Amino acid sequence: MKNIVAPFAALVTALSVSVSALAPLERNLAYRSPSLSLSNGDGLGHDIEHIGAQIRKRAYDDYVTSKVEGKARRNNAKGKTEADFLVEKYDGDYGSDGRDAYKGKVSFPYGVAAGDPYPDSAILWTHPVPEDANTTLPVCLRYQTSRSESDWSKANLVDDSYAWTTSEVDYSFKVETSGLQPKTQYYYRFFSCHDNSVVSPVGSFKSIPDYNDDEVDSLKLAVFSCSNLPFGYFNAYRAAAARKNADYFVHVGDYIYEARGDGQKVAGENTYGDGRALNRVPEPDHEIDKDLQALHGSVAFFGIWDDHEVADNSYNHGTADGNNTDTGAVRGVRFTERKLAAVKAYYEWMPIRQVDTTDSLRIWRSFRYGKLADLFLLDTRNFDRDLTDVYWNTDAVAAISNDTDRSLMGGKQEQWLYSGLVNSESRGATWKIVAQQIIVNWQNYGTPSFMYNYDAWQGYRANRRRFFDTIVNNNVDNTVILAGDSHANWVYDTVPEDRLNTTAYDPTTGEGSIAVEFAGTAVSSPSSYGANLTQEKYLKRAQDLVTVNRNLQWAEGGTRGYFEIEFSKDECNAQFYGYINNTNPNAPEQLIAQFNVKKGANQLTRPINYGITPSSGALQSQAVDYSKQKWNGTAFVAQN
Ligand SMILES: *[C@@H]1O[C@H](CO)[C@@H](O)[C@H](O)[C@H]1NC(C)=O
Ligand SMILES: *[C@@H]1O[C@H](CO)[C@@H](O)[C@H](O)[C@H]1NC(C)=O
Ligand SMILES: *[C@@H]1O[C@H](CO)[C@@H](O)[C@H](O)[C@H]1NC(C)=O
Ligand SMILES: *[C@@H]1O[C@H](CO)[C@@H](O)[C@H](O)[C@H]1NC(C)=O
Ligand SMILES: *[C@@H]1O[C@H](CO)[C@@H](O)[C@H](O)[C@H]1NC(C)=O
Ligand SMILES: *[C@@H]1O[C@H](CO)[C@@H](O)[C@H](O)[C@H]1NC(C)=O
Ligand SMILES: *[C@@H]1O[C@H](CO)[C@@H](O)[C@H](O)[C@H]1NC(C)=O
Repeated sequence: MKNIVAPFAALVTALSVSVSALAPLERNLAYRSPSLSLSNGDGLGHDIEHIGAQIRKRAYDDYVTSKVEGKARRNNAKGKTEADFLVEKYDGDYGSDGRDAYKGKVSFPYGVAAGDPYPDSAILWTHPVPEDANTTLPVCLRYQTSRSESDWSKANLVDDSYAWTTSEVDYSFKVETSGLQPKTQYYYRFFSCHDNSVVSPVGSFKSIPDYNDDEVDSLKLAVFSCSNLPFGYFNAYRAAAARKNADYFVHVGDYIYEARGDGQKVAGENTYGDGRALNRVPEPDHEIDKDLQALHGSVAFFGIWDDHEVADNSYNHGTADGNNTDTGAVRGVRFTERKLAAVKAYYEWMPIRQVDTTDSLRIWRSFRYGKLADLFLLDTRNFDRDLTDVYWNTDAVAAISNDTDRSLMGGKQEQWLYSGLVNSESRGATWKIVAQQIIVNWQNYGTPSFMYNYDAWQGYRANRRRFFDTIVNNNVDNTVILAGDSHANWVYDTVPEDRLNTTAYDPTTGEGSIAVEFAGTAVSSPSSYGANLTQEKYLKRAQDLVTVNRNLQWAEGGTRGYFEIEFSKDECNAQFYGYINNTNPNAPEQLIAQFNVKKGANQLTRPINYGITPSSGALQSQAVDYSKQKWNGTAFVAQN
């Protein structure tokens, strides 16, 4: 890791001012993303020393050429060296007193967000826009964290500090607020250090409990995936924010899509949907959706990326859009360059921590929520996934899908997850929440003939076996898997592959299940069953799916939406919410199904959905009569 303080320390000693001179830049984590380590050759880590020099140079140039302050000032600057100038302008806690920082107004059109809370700190994010779009000066922002939503007096403030942002990080502003108490509700806001006439919206979040706190009764998450702007409204975000039920929200990926959304076909570019009719065409500089802003402002966020933050069906060295070769480059951009640019943008715009500052690709991380739960956030997508199905190679990937040397996560992450699960059990945490992108369980989606999604865990069966073996061999109880990616709802008893063809797993009682999986539908991306089908067709398809996937206890593909899940000391409860028509910004929300899991059971509680016919989709228990089915050696088939 490069020592970023030393060069400034030298300057600082010469000028005999405090070392905190560097702090306004360093405190903005956007400068430290995606990696602090500049020597690894990825070229993406920001060189703070260099940026500091650029900022001073710009300020000096601005000073010398200033038309605003006239000739006198220019004359005054004449004959002064840059070093003289620095003494005059950048002595002291530079930027804090406003000298040669931007003094105009800023606005906050992108809202505010908090993320990755710890018991004593959290990440706060905003993105100020200076009114003078051409300013070259650093923007200094104050950030304050208060115990009160309305009273920002000193007595309530637990943090009151400032940092800089500049064009080098596209004015992203990302800081760690600290000095927090565990399990506490906080409020935060931002304003310009030099013009507090515009204050950002006030955001709120909760710090998490101390890891050894055994008095934690509940953890409520709202879980989202696949938010494709041109395809429809983000009703799910608005509803979750308005319900004010969740403590946190989790996005398991495809938070943003890379493709055009204006219906235009341009050579070499993907297009997903046509947002023109709904006025939802994504653009650079477009404000992020208001419903998303409302949710971000109300609770802290735990986010992980899937493929579309980079490109369709991405893996470690490529994507369905192109190969990592000059000939496979998309519009001259090789996959590796594209991926690194996407990673940089993600770190600058998302309120996530960088848990390993030497690894720009590592977003997999975990949180200990008292003794109630451990939350594992995986990266099955971009960190170190071996070759995936990129459409033209499906047969080849199917043929190697059982190879033991294939990994979805990379060895380093696999080891971390498995030891994390075992440690979680031994430290006495009740729930092991494994939030990740893609469907883990056996997923035959081709009826009547077999068809598997080799871009999901099905393409990495040995990795799945190692995950399941960890659970089984170490008696890891109460694992709850969260997934997205598929644009449909799938709720499973989790069953190792080799138990599916035998009586080892009983779909009626759930016996043989080792965990549960809740895979949610998309916020707005179209159904993987097919877009715009009739409700009858969606139901028929769901019925077919539960018939050929014995541990799939509920299938649903007719609604867009999200789910909420509450973990308490004795049980876990999940509610799935859906919208039939997401092209309506006020679409009514339906509670479509609910599930319960008892502590220690490692399976869904029977009767599934409390024995009620769900308002959309099909239950295994209602669609399949096993007395009329027989096992033919490969699948259950109707007895004639
Ligand atoms: C910024 O600079 C551009 C190009 O020089 C100019 O057209 C524009 O008017 C400037 N904007 C402001 C707000 O000064
Ligand atoms: C990537 O390479 C494969 C194998 O050579 C080829 O079939 C495929 O068309 C290439 N894809 C792109 C987008 O270049
Ligand atoms: C998959 O691999 C496992 C472990 O090597 C082996 O036991 C199993 O028979 C293989 N299954 C198939 C269908 O090849
Ligand atoms: C289950 O599948 C395995 C592997 O294909 C096979 O060896 C075993 O005989 C099957 N069991 C039953 C009961 O069909
Ligand atoms: C679904 O139907 C709507 C309204 O008719 C249409 O605008 C949209 O393009 C359709 N979506 C897809 C993916 O076909
Ligand atoms: C969905 O809602 C939009 C906007 O209210 C409406 O124009 C459209 O007809 C609706 N589509 C269906 C299938 O109900
Ligand atoms: C069992 O049934 C499935 C689904 O109908 C079929 O694809 C498969 O070929 C059958 N297997 C045998 C051995 O008949």
